[in-house]
Amino acid sequence: MEVSLEGKVALVTGAGPNIGSGIALALSAYGAKVACNDSRKEAAEASAARVEARGGTALAVPGDVTDEADVKGYIETILESWGRLDIVINNASLLGGRSVLEEDLASFSRAVNVAAAGNFLNTKLGAIAMIERGIKGSIVSILSSNAWQGAPGVIAYAFHKGGLANFVRAAAMDLAPYGIRVNSFSPTAPDPDNPEIVAERKGTGWPRPRQVQPAGARPSWWREMGTFDVRGNIPMGRASTPTDIGHLIAWLCSDYARLVTGCDFTIDGGARAKYWGYTPGSDNAGPVPVVPLDGVGPLVSLSEAE
Ligand SMILES: NC(=O)c1ccc[n+]([C@@H]2O[C@H](COP(=O)([O-])OP(=O)(O)OC[C@H]3O[C@@H](n4cnc5c(N)ncnc54)[C@H](O)[C@@H]3O)[C@@H](O)[C@H]2O)c1
Repeated sequence: MEVSLEGKVALVTGAGPNIGSGIALALSAYGAKVACNDSRKEAAEASAARVEARGGTALAVPGDVTDEADVKGYIETILESWGRLDIVINNASLLGGRSVLEEDLASFSRAVNVAAAGNFLNTKLGAIAMIERGIKGSIVSILSSNAWQGAPGVIAYAFHKGGLANFVRAAAMDLAPYGIRVNSFSPTAPDPDNPEIVAERKGTGWPRPRQVQPAGARPSWWREMGTFDVRGNIPMGRASTPTDIGHLIAWLCSDYARLVTGCDFTIDGGARAKYWGYTPGSDNAGPVPVVPLDGVGPLVSLSEAE
């Protein structure tokens, strides 16, 4: 028995050179036609070109996920091109941010709007396209650990990822009578593993570096935050990759998952299950090779490549 998305059509928002492009490649490797959206036209085109280069069928559908006319327009393009829509991956997001003490209202509101309007419009208009064609599709919102746990320095991100966690459950209830499933996936700082994606990230300088306050700009009462260790706190000792995420999402969007709705998934080597005070030792799972996608070629870890 094999997972197959043959005959299905997928839309991936924010399909730039990291998780979104990895998911687009995976959905294609499992047989779906894939429409790659991004507000950066060149990123949408590069993502679609990567799918086609390995023999898949893709369409670049640039547009801003917060703009209703853009979303209507690219869903219409997908329907005109392929006649259906089965899968929507709400991946576009603005990462990074600032603490509650430093964030400004404009940046906070924009980050929240990309998540809120983006997930709302693509879920609503994608679901209507499915319902009108009698398609029992699958919608997946990409969340984050910040949907479930508090971290410093990302107040807008924490707000909108946490909100999306219950958006998914509520949309799952709204769409259950139509057989449309709504789930979420929570990445945990995955390690990019596709050499072409790694090269595009390096070549375009995307993602843009986090905004940091210049030295001396902070008030005298400012207190420094603690530190993060996103690689050392994984019980299995290995970070996931966009390819791992793609395998899971392909299954989630397949007919095998016909009754899976309102759920969140993660691939984190046990990080989220871990008791907060526990620090894993240096003995870990050892090599646990990622299973490559057909036709994508050898995988490389970004951290090893640098
Ligand atoms: N990378 C991580 O470590 C990590 C960890 C946890 C969760 N996530 C989540 O995974 C998803 C993908 O993350 P990533 O690291 O690949 O991010 P990324 O920044 O590399 O890609 C996001 C893409 O979204 C696009 N985008 C931004 N605003 C848009 C808009 N209004 N309309 C259309 N496209 C827009 C960007 O141009 C970019 O290409 C996001 O939802 C992110 O929050 C990432």
